[in-house]
Amino acid sequence: MSITVTKIPMSSEQFTRLAQIIYDRSGIHFPEPKKYILESRLSHRLQELEITDFDQYIAYLTMGPYQMDEFQEMFNRITINETSFFRNEAQLNVFEHQILPEILEARASTKRLRIWSAACSTGEEPFTIAMLIHRTLGIRLNDWHIEILGTDISEKALNVANSGTYTSYALRSTPQLMKSKYFTESGREFQLSETIRSMVNFERHNLKDRLAAKRHGVWDVIFCRNVLIYFDDEMKKGVVSMFNNQLADDGTLFIGHSERIKDLTDDFEQLPIPQGFCYKKSGKSSNA
Ligand SMILES: C[S@@+](CC[C@H](N)C(=O)[O-])C[C@H]1O[C@@H](n2cnc3c(N)ncnc32)[C@H](O)[C@@H]1O
Repeated sequence: MSITVTKIPMSSEQFTRLAQIIYDRSGIHFPEPKKYILESRLSHRLQELEITDFDQYIAYLTMGPYQMDEFQEMFNRITINETSFFRNEAQLNVFEHQILPEILEARASTKRLRIWSAACSTGEEPFTIAMLIHRTLGIRLNDWHIEILGTDISEKALNVANSGTYTSYALRSTPQLMKSKYFTESGREFQLSETIRSMVNFERHNLKDRLAAKRHGVWDVIFCRNVLIYFDDEMKKGVVSMFNNQLADDGTLFIGHSERIKDLTDDFEQLPIPQGFCYKKSGKSSNA
């Protein structure tokens, strides 16, 4: 049964409480001008639950027996999952032609490579990385143990990633050659090849959860693009410090083109590569 959505008004006081709860759980910072986003995205949820105001919803979210499920449901609705295959091609070229060859050489004796795509949304980013590695290694891929992990706080986004099925919109920046090599068109959808799908695993992970990050061990490359913009400085610092712990000493961190970490940490130094937006550990870590 479909519900006709009417916006349920959220008072400033309700917004402040809800924004604090969201921040405490996820680090996502909603400033007051973004109140309308919470109001419009959550009104539908309140109606589904037959809850008539945000005070009741906050109680349901924080005290009811379904707290954990409801947090998940809420994050599915309030996160911005904008992404695409081959997003920021110039940066991906830096990865493919400079960073990847270096790290493959450095790992030539173990033939193990671990890449984490943190906050990967619906999977286009880690799958793009898999395609680039597949293209680079070709037949030599069989000699390597490549681990690519895509994580996100939104289960709904990860369900799309696990399906490997995308619309043409997700492929809007995909070069024609890659499209025909790795996708099969079926009606209005594009199915990603099994070869690429099998190179990537997905898992729900909240960037606020440092212990869970530890459990995944050390990575050779970390991509964390276009999510730091949703965090305040304190959360950004925590996430960057966690990356410092979870990145190999010769590893590389890639962030989004509009994101800056320079003023937040001494742990990383930006590489002087135009369009790279990539960082190496400085070795000046406060956690060392
Ligand atoms: C704009 S998308 C970026 C996707 C991809 N990295 C890219 O650049 O195309 C931001 C993603 O961050 C996720 N996110 C937000 N807060 C998070 C958190 N605390 N932990 C993990 N993922 C989070 C959202 O669910 C969303 O899918």
